[in-house]
Amino acid sequence: MNQLFSDRILNSKKSFIREILKVTSNKDIISFAGGLPNPISFPTSALRDAMTTVTDKNGSHIFQYATTEGYLPLREYIAKRYQIKHGLSINAEDILITSGSQQGLDLIGKVFLNKSDSILIEKPGYLGAIQALSLYEPHFHQVDLLEDGVDLDQFKTRLAQDTMKLFYSVPNFQNPTGLTYSRANRQALGLMLTHTQTVLIEDDPYGELRFFGEDLPYIQSFSNCPSILLGSFSKIVTPGMRIGWICTTHPQIMEKLIIAKQASDLHTNYFAQRVIYQYLIDNNLEEHISHIKKLYKEQCEAMVSSIHKYFPENIKVTQPEGGMFLWVTLPKYLSSLKLFELASELKVAFVPGEPFYIGEIPQNTLRLNYTNSDIQTIDKGIRRLGEAIHKLIKNTVTY
Ligand SMILES: Cc1ncc(COP(=O)(O)O)c(C=O)c1O
Repeated sequence: MNQLFSDRILNSKKSFIREILKVTSNKDIISFAGGLPNPISFPTSALRDAMTTVTDKNGSHIFQYATTEGYLPLREYIAKRYQIKHGLSINAEDILITSGSQQGLDLIGKVFLNKSDSILIEKPGYLGAIQALSLYEPHFHQVDLLEDGVDLDQFKTRLAQDTMKLFYSVPNFQNPTGLTYSRANRQALGLMLTHTQTVLIEDDPYGELRFFGEDLPYIQSFSNCPSILLGSFSKIVTPGMRIGWICTTHPQIMEKLIIAKQASDLHTNYFAQRVIYQYLIDNNLEEHISHIKKLYKEQCEAMVSSIHKYFPENIKVTQPEGGMFLWVTLPKYLSSLKLFELASELKVAFVPGEPFYIGEIPQNTLRLNYTNSDIQTIDKGIRRLGEAIHKLIKNTVTY
């Protein structure tokens, strides 16, 4: 049947994580595999109130088609938040509401990529971006992500070797590693991108979830290359309503994105936009975010401390300042795919590092999510994973 399908879809892989999530849907398994926010962080009753208010106040109007750009007061709210929190000069016309930031990635692919264009992403990089952009058949180039951001030498070499259409980055509490670019790294990247025609994409769904350290300026603040920010309510209000946005102050880019969005889905779910906006104006978002940060900080610290208790000493783990993930590096001779099998027998799951790489794939890395399990479960799961690692070391013969 393959002759029926486009090359584009035939060349695209299934989401590895979605496949793994199927395995972990078994209730007995402790899963650190998904990237799920903690459901206790969803403001369920406030959202129910917002739904009632919106419906009672507006009647049938909210069930009508709406504009592609999105609900204007919501776009104004988002623009204002960029002004207040980041000192950026952003206006409502610079915001396009999308169905999650994931749709933003797809629209970016549609607008910028021709087959075989070169693009730069982090190594390891966000799997969802790899998947979304793969459908436009670019050549991916990965640059190492280090403790303080992207490897600058590699970045410079890549920019000099080839014209890069895009640089896709997650500068805060990156998925999958939990790492954050330092101010110096952002500045250096921004300067290198200045006067290039590479489009800088900063995808920032976790930026508001900082539990240590200070907020840092976006890379775009140090550059005058064409740039785009992606944002989302998924991690600070709810992922299920699928409300995210694209922000760009370049009118020509925005015009093309709007055309692509029109062609894709006309507009993002209008009712959901109205409910989220009603929630935002009737509630204190800052207070809500501080509850989430407190919760995630405790969960992150619990996972790190259990790792120190149960894992052998030669295993490296990142120390996130926020977000939802930890990244573990095993000694080189150990395979995280083999560990996955042993861990499944002990009823604990994680994501092996493989799908976050393109080309040369290190075998010894893995991602752990700490936000969707309580502290007792985290300890129990990490104890099981520690057992699986000890078993793997025993089973792996080295010469
Ligand atoms: C880096 C990154 N970008 C985008 C997304 C997609 O988020 P959304 O729910 O806004 O589509 C995720 C989700 O986990 C993510 O980790």
